[in-house]
Formats: sequence, structure tokens, C-alpha cells
Amino acid sequence: MFEEGLFKDKRILVTGGGTGLGKEIAAKYLELGAQVWIAGRRGQVLEQTAKELMGVHGGTVRTHAVDIRDAQAVDAMVQRIWDEAGPLTGLVNNAAGNFISPTKDLTPNGFNAIANIVFHGTFYVTHAVGRRWIAGGHKGSVISILVTWVWTGSPYVVPSAMSKAALNVMTKSLAVEWGRHGIRLNAIAPGPFPTEGASKRLRPDGSFEDATKTIPMRRIGQMPELQNLAAFLMADGCDYLTGETIAIDGGGYLANGASFTELDKLSDADWQRMRELIKAQNDKDRAGRTA
Ligand code: HXC
Repeated sequence: MFEEGLFKDKRILVTGGGTGLGKEIAAKYLELGAQVWIAGRRGQVLEQTAKELMGVHGGTVRTHAVDIRDAQAVDAMVQRIWDEAGPLTGLVNNAAGNFISPTKDLTPNGFNAIANIVFHGTFYVTHAVGRRWIAGGHKGSVISILVTWVWTGSPYVVPSAMSKAALNVMTKSLAVEWGRHGIRLNAIAPGPFPTEGASKRLRPDGSFEDATKTIPMRRIGQMPELQNLAAFLMADGCDYLTGETIAIDGGGYLANGASFTELDKLSDADWQRMRELIKAQNDKDRAGRTA
């Protein structure tokens, strides 16, 4: 679908690039010739991913362990990239946090755990990169991974829906404010493209496969489809495209609106079990963190 070497002059940072959608997007950019940076909280996971991707595609994948909730650490990471490799040409805001929960049962800490990653953290990274682009007179492109809940809202994932909706507005606002600097901001709103991080926290007792009955295209997403959209939006050929959030969900949100409405039927005992399953995944991930 794309010319070989299309991204040979690109330097792109993918947050949350060690796993899931971020890893897939990083792989596509690497395949097209970009130098790629992946950032995340688990240094070892990043290292393994970098090794794996370079083994398959060659090229250079560098890693940086960081928690994007820490603005100073984010700024230090971006400065390190500028110092070691020169200005980035692109940024993918993919790092996120989420879990299903009845909103009445959330504590302020639970809300903050998600809002601090998605809402605050994504701004910190965008700001640290964008202000350097403007200061140096460099063009740049930002893609944020959002979700169709930015239009519909969604029950049981309210901190995520609120935070991602804010990033939709950030995308539009900065597309206007930074357009004259040659900086573009767009976003992708994927439907179900199952990954471990999302499945274990959003469908802890099942899979996304059951959603296929109601999605007009009758299937979940395939990673190459998401990779192709991420490559298209990052490519120079669509320089005039900015401020847009593009859904890639097989028509799911147009047909069905919000996700998770079916969770209305869960009992208190069901929710208790969900919480335990999510906690096990959170504990497992936390054990690997180095930032
Ligand atoms: C209620 C919960 C909870 C749950 C955690 N908390 N899990 N509350 N129900 N199931 C509360 C805790 O009790 C605590 O509050 C607070 O959240 C912080 O919990 P920690 O585990 O200490 O947080 P932390 O270690 O910082 O982890 C952050 C996290 C975790 C967001 C909770 O899930 C994470 O790191 N996730 C990253 C990966 C991820 O989520 N990927 C999926 C993204 S999917 P108290 O008050 O007890 O201290 C996505 C959209 C996909 O973004 C769309 C698909 C269609």
C-alpha cells in the first residue's frame, strides 16, 4: 500500500510503544524506514519489543522508560531525543490507561490514575514536542489514539471517555493554533482491535469477539488496517489534513453508539469479580515497571 522507504527521513516517538496498538504502529513506521522511539513504563518490555522489531524490520528502535504522568520526566525524555537524534518529525500519543468500573465505585485516585495518564500525560508529551518544533522552526505531525466514545460518551469507562474527549478538543484546537508552524494534529478512533492491555481491563471475563454480531462489518479490526491509517496520516502526502479524528471501527459507533451498555446487567458480585481480574492484570504490569 505504501512505497518502500516512505519514512526514511522520519523520526517518530510512539508512547506506549512497547505493547498493543503502539507496538503495531511503531512496527509499521519502522518497516517504512523511520527511526522510531518507543516510550513506556516497563523498561524490559520496551527493550524486548525494540529487539523484536529490529530483528524483523532492521532499522533503529530506541527506548525510553517514562511515566507520562510526570511532566519533568517527559520533558527530559524529549530533550534526550533532540540531543541524541535531532528533532522528531512525528509523535504518536498512544499511551493510555483504562478499566471498566461503575462510576459510583470510583475513588478520586481511580479517576486520577486514568485522567493523569490520558488527559494530563498526553498534553505533557504533545507540549514538550510541539514547543520544540515551534522554537526550532520544524514541521511536525501528531497522531493521538482516541476512541469513538469521544462522540458518544460511554458508560463504565467515564474517566477514559472524558479524557479522550478532551484530547479530541486538543487535536482541533492545536491544529488551528499550530497550523501556521506546519504542525498537524490528527487522531484515530479505533473500534475493537483487541490487545492484551485493553482486553484484560475492558473485557476481563471474555473477548471482543462477541461485539462482532452488532458491528456492521461483522468482525473486529485487523492490525494492518490500523497500521495503514497511522501510516497514511503520518505521511507527507496528506500535509493539508489536520484537526481530524477518524474512526476505524467497521461502522460500529454509527450503528450502536456507546460501548459497554450491556454491562447494565452485571450484578454486584459480577463487578467484584471483574475488579479482581483487573487488579491481577494491574499487579502483573506494575511488577515490570521501571519508571
Ligand atoms: C475500580 C480501580 C480499578 C478497578 C484500579 N482502580 N483498578 N478502581 N475498579 N477495576 C483504582 C485503584 O483502586 C486505585 O485507587 C487507583 O485506581 C490507582 O490504581 P493503581 O493500580 O495503583 O494505578 P496504577 O498502578 O497507576 O495503574 C494505572 C491504571 C492501570 C490505569 C489503573 O490500569 C494501567 O496502568 N493501565 C495501563 C494500560 C491500559 O490500561 N491499557 C488499556 C487501555 S484501553 P485507590 O483509591 O484504591 O488508591 C483504552 C481504550 C480502548 O484506553 C478502547 C477500546 C475500544
